[in-house]
Amino acid sequence: MKNFSDIEKAAKYIQEGKLVAFPTETVYGLGGNALNPLAVAKIFELKERPSFDPLIMHIASIAQLEKLVLSTDERIYKLAEKFWPGPLTMVLPKSNIVPDIVTSGLPTAGIRMPGNEIALELIRISDCPIAAPSANKFGRISPTTAAHVKKQLPNVDYIIDGGKTTVGLESTIINLTDFGFQILRNGIITKEELETILPFDGNSEIQKLSAPGMLKSHYSPGKMFLIAHNNNLKIDKLKAGLISFSGELENGYRKIIRVSDRKDLKDYAVNMFEAMHAFEDDNDIEIIIAEPVIDRGIGKAIMDRLRKAEFNWRPGMFQ
Ligand code: TXA
Ligand code: MG
Repeated sequence: MKNFSDIEKAAKYIQEGKLVAFPTETVYGLGGNALNPLAVAKIFELKERPSFDPLIMHIASIAQLEKLVLSTDERIYKLAEKFWPGPLTMVLPKSNIVPDIVTSGLPTAGIRMPGNEIALELIRISDCPIAAPSANKFGRISPTTAAHVKKQLPNVDYIIDGGKTTVGLESTIINLTDFGFQILRNGIITKEELETILPFDGNSEIQKLSAPGMLKSHYSPGKMFLIAHNNNLKIDKLKAGLISFSGELENGYRKIIRVSDRKDLKDYAVNMFEAMHAFEDDNDIEIIIAEPVIDRGIGKAIMDRLRKAEFNWRPGMFQ
């Protein structure tokens, strides 16, 4: 557990309308008081995030949830009981106390209770919901350490260093329909796990939202990034770093980062962004290659990130 005085200091900053980067179990967030529109405006500004892309609000109790949403749908409580605190964001009808800037004018708000003691304590002491996107510049790689935050957002008012995050991928985002749930963003909580509580609604149309979680390009390293599909990559491997999972593709690469010693997809999730950051910072590496995994369960969330990171570099491939 982090030094308590750090969290108290950070909470004071939040109360003053300043911004604090803090660890959650997924990635580091760039937080501000969700009920203070000026603080929220600073988040968009520092992150260089377009105003049409809504923020997630982080809470520490169900009482807090009830102030932020209009719905009393009992399915919310069932999901909260099973998955909170944890990496699940629910998109729910928002109450009037939520400033429009948080939700980019939408009538709904994304809300989650993070599974990280520092984050929960920060929210409790700040005594307000904390709006927080991932603490990276818009469109760049998400941070899983305090150093990643510092690299992209050197001017943030305060960073709580809580070590490396334990999940490594952003939360699963769901929307509730009359029939069940829709997945707006894949994460470590899989469709199959959610189906133990609610039916999956694969038929209702997903409301279109011009937001990066749903854009094709996102999470991009500042260097050429490609997925090692089976077709021959015409690249100079001596200039390339491989993010390796199975160990089977490692021949010839300049450098290799193996993300799992035991071939466990959870390790890939935990270490993926860190590996991207490491190669992005490495002057010996011009091209980053990532090994693909099976597009199922946690693999779906991993492949989703890899495809988005690759999108800019293989125009037209994932239209
Ligand atoms: O794990 C996470 O969710 C991390 C940590 C910090 O909590 N946060 C995060 O935030 O990934 P961000 O801003 O990078 O991604 C939030 C996504 C956006 O892509 C946005 O489109 C979606 O959540 N979102 C937020 N509110 C929404 C809403 N009302 N309707 C649909 N999507 C929403
Ligand atoms: Mg993000």
